[in-house]
Amino acid sequence: MGMPQPSFYIFKCQQSAPPQMPGKPSCVTPESEDLMQFMAMSLMQKGLVGNVLPIQTGCLNRCNVGPIMLVEPGHVMYVQLTKEKITKIIDEHIIGGNIVEEYLIDEELWDTAISPVEQMKLMGK
Ligand code: FES
Repeated sequence: MGMPQPSFYIFKCQQSAPPQMPGKPSCVTPESEDLMQFMAMSLMQKGLVGNVLPIQTGCLNRCNVGPIMLVEPGHVMYVQLTKEKITKIIDEHIIGGNIVEEYLIDEELWDTAISPVEQMKLMGK
């Protein structure tokens, strides 16, 4: 048997102030700066090192509802995170297999993706 792929990637926005949106809410504030470390430690304590990969990212363009994180596979975007919410997401979604609907981003802000080809057409390319 080969080396298994990770079962999940969790992309956590670690940008403190979106350069294009000064003064807007951001994903890392004094109150939320330790969420990434909290998530990584929680995964480690549950024995999920290598199986679930926490990944720090820059701005994912949903700053107004930060702190946010994106779970793949599934394009599942969780918003307005706290330590309590992260614990529940790990327990219910990552381990239990059930998306935590109450913490999802509003559909208005996370509509179905359009294909790159369609996007290029829209941009006249
Ligand atoms: S700063 Fe996190 S989504 Fe923009």
